[in-house]
Amino acid sequence: MIKGLHRLEYRGYDSAGIALLNGSLTIIRRKGKVKELEDFAEGQNLVGTVGIGHTRWATHGKPDDRNAHPHLSGNGRLTLVHNGIIENYDTLKKALEKLGHEFTSETDTEVLVHLIEELQSRDNLPIEEAVRVALQKVVGAYAIVVIDKEDPEKLVAARKASPLVIGIGNDDFYIASDATPIIEYTKKVVYLNDEEIAVVKKDGNLQIFTINNELQKPKVQELDMEIERLEKAGYDSFMLKEIYEQPQTIADAMRGRMNAGESWIRLGGIAEYANKMVNAKRFIIVACGTSWHAGLIAEYLFEDLARIPVEVEYASEFRYRNPIINENDVVIALSQSGETADTLAALELAREKGALIYGIVNVVGSSISRLTDAGSYIHAGPEIGVASTKAFTGQLTLLTLMALKIAHLKGNITNSYFHELLTELENIPAKIERILEKSPKIEYIAGEFKNTNNALYLGRGYNFPVALEGALKLKEISYIHAEGYPAAEMKHGPIALIDENMPVIVIANNKSAYEKIASNIQEVKARKGVVIAIVEEGDDFIKNMADYTIEITATEEPLSPLLSVIPLQLLAYYIAIQRGCNVDQPRNLAKSVTVE
Ligand code: M6R
Repeated sequence: MIKGLHRLEYRGYDSAGIALLNGSLTIIRRKGKVKELEDFAEGQNLVGTVGIGHTRWATHGKPDDRNAHPHLSGNGRLTLVHNGIIENYDTLKKALEKLGHEFTSETDTEVLVHLIEELQSRDNLPIEEAVRVALQKVVGAYAIVVIDKEDPEKLVAARKASPLVIGIGNDDFYIASDATPIIEYTKKVVYLNDEEIAVVKKDGNLQIFTINNELQKPKVQELDMEIERLEKAGYDSFMLKEIYEQPQTIADAMRGRMNAGESWIRLGGIAEYANKMVNAKRFIIVACGTSWHAGLIAEYLFEDLARIPVEVEYASEFRYRNPIINENDVVIALSQSGETADTLAALELAREKGALIYGIVNVVGSSISRLTDAGSYIHAGPEIGVASTKAFTGQLTLLTLMALKIAHLKGNITNSYFHELLTELENIPAKIERILEKSPKIEYIAGEFKNTNNALYLGRGYNFPVALEGALKLKEISYIHAEGYPAAEMKHGPIALIDENMPVIVIANNKSAYEKIASNIQEVKARKGVVIAIVEEGDDFIKNMADYTIEITATEEPLSPLLSVIPLQLLAYYIAIQRGCNVDQPRNLAKSVTVE
């Protein structure tokens, strides 16, 4: 169980707990990482044939022992773990308090287990029926697993808008938020759908029904994942491993989908909806965080190459502002995890309005991949580091292929430019290898800036979103305040921040607007700012102006973000390491944000 929690820890790590049933019910909960729980459990005689565990990312109630899961019902009979948010918890809690229920935590989860208890004891219901009726009263998102001490041969699980997968072993079942803890034991899985409840029994029986009590036939699928991909493989951290994997993951994203020599691109999802894509009036890209940055680069790609108007939306904002979505719009969802609640909710809205939904997702079988009409997997393998790196460049690779394919179908680019870009795309992995060889220099530069309090990232055109991404990477893993800006926008405000203590990272490998970027660097230098420039190999002009330079190999401009982001990932990584930060599990964050 602890091993499974370690595998899931990247999803949340502020407290953890387990409950085991073995005649009696034992629950242990600990603030902090799973390791704290593990140390606490060591030496205790913890055995059981049925158990549940949880590693938390706090929503309601601060991270402490009391708010950690599993939560217990008032009568001590039921215990439950939950991901998601019970939005009407306050109303339910007040009603339950009137009935005499007392609560010991600040969580919405505890309200749910009390609600199930209330319904079970009032109407003498079997646990699965009490769960079903309770869930009909709940507003919000949940993936839950419940144990009933009086019915110890079964586990009851349910989901709505938070992922849940059931692994089917030879004599056992495994239930988890994703497949990473399951793969070690079985490759046979069933993904639970929204508003479905599963009952797994010790005798090997699995039953699935909806919250409206309709029996469902479990759809067993085979996992395509290797356990080795969940290990650090000799690297100090998952993040470093994932940065170094990028030549491979980009090659994997292209594999079988293009051939530069023969000048073709084949993307399954696009072939099926070619007409709709080519005639789309508009692409709307919805995403969050790093995926949103990939979306911003896609705006340049689609408008520049395919001449399709693009809107890039924060999924969380899009949904709540009554957006105009037409049937001839194509909505593209970008998500590493395929589980981001804001993105999922935005897609549901787009679907209601009749738009075609295309997904670019990493995690196979994830909720977003199942909601879309068509799409492409990134095939980057599991990304465990909370800071997204290889998924970002994987997304960019696919978005480039998509833009090129549509541009070609529309006749917007010449055959020779199409061929040129494909050839150059094939060269990208080798060019990233060359950048990775520059790690020692980047590590040295990181040492010079590890004590800074602020940093400004500037870029133009295709590389403006890369500036945003570089700043986000630094913020999330080193806790240094950083901002990304379009380089020319600096003079409209942020320039006021520049002094000798302000490092300014300028992405200056653009071919277009090169002189303008050089002028922006001069403006920074004139105010004593310290410039770290990302330049093309052999660019002595900017090298002479900047305080530090990191050289990257030249490429075609639409592909330049695939290269320019690599030194920024490494810079953030080395600064964070030199500040003693945990790069894989930065404070307050979680890998998969399954709450809105
Ligand atoms: O799984 P998703 O791509 O949908 O996740 C979106 C964001 O939560 C994610 O990119 C987040 O910003 C990362 N921590 C960035 O490194």
